Amino acid sequence: MICLGNPAFSRFSAPAAAFVTLMTAGPLGALDYEKDIQPILMNKCADCHSDEAGKSKGGLKFDDPAHFHKRFSKNSAVIPGDWDASYLFVTIFRPPDSKEAMPPKGKGESLNREEVMKVMQWIAEGASINGTRGEKGTMPGDFDALLADMPGHHLAKKGKAKSETSLFPKRATPAEEDWTNTEGKTIKAVLVKVEDGKAHLRMQNGKVYKYPVDKLSKESRERLEGRSDPDMK
Ligand code: HEC
Repeated sequence: MICLGNPAFSRFSAPAAAFVTLMTAGPLGALDYEKDIQPILMNKCADCHSDEAGKSKGGLKFDDPAHFHKRFSKNSAVIPGDWDASYLFVTIFRPPDSKEAMPPKGKGESLNREEVMKVMQWIAEGASINGTRGEKGTMPGDFDALLADMPGHHLAKKGKAKSETSLFPKRATPAEEDWTNTEGKTIKAVLVKVEDGKAHLRMQNGKVYKYPVDKLSKESRERLEGRSDPDMK
């Protein structure tokens, strides 16, 4: 049962627990190297870091997860949980013309903002790779705050990017509201967004549940209307 020990539910009795089990998704799955990160690195780094190209510059090959995993500790390439101290992150975060930047200046396309944040999230979540996962760390609350003292940084936000809202909730989080389902059970949660017929509701413990809109009460559904993107206001 996913809600046990969740303080958000402590004031509810058994029926409230039933509400939670109705919720379709459990905690969001962590990013995985082979599935989520390798394609990004192979797209922009393969020329010099892959078996495919026959090159492992700096001793790193991104198309060989077992090999890459063994190199995590080399020059602190990846320190699971600690994106800040991971050299891989440093190289993709540095402005493209800097000495430590990867790909090297003029030798390819840098990762974009979304890709950098994905790598960051993957490391923060413990850098799951080759069937194992290390220690979990924390994510910054706000990516732009990291860039605040680096004017003109190439990763600074230019427009509002939609997909980032769930990854980096704004510091001033939207207010909690009561959400009631068709069975009359109510929970307190922040509406993150509505997508594919599901309301993404963030509980006090930070977990986001995807709840089918059509299982919400008429009143809750009416409140959702016109608010399909609450964070973008
Ligand atoms: C044009 C070739 C080239 C491309 C493309 C390239 N790299 Fe590199 N990379 C190198 C070279 C050369 C080194 C070794 C530098 C050194 O030892 O000083 C290196 C070293 C590294 C290191 C440090 C390894 C260590 O322990 O010292 C990391 C991390 C890295 N690259 C990541 C990347 C990432 C991520 C990308 C894609 C965004 C990328 N590289 C794209 C050539 C490249």
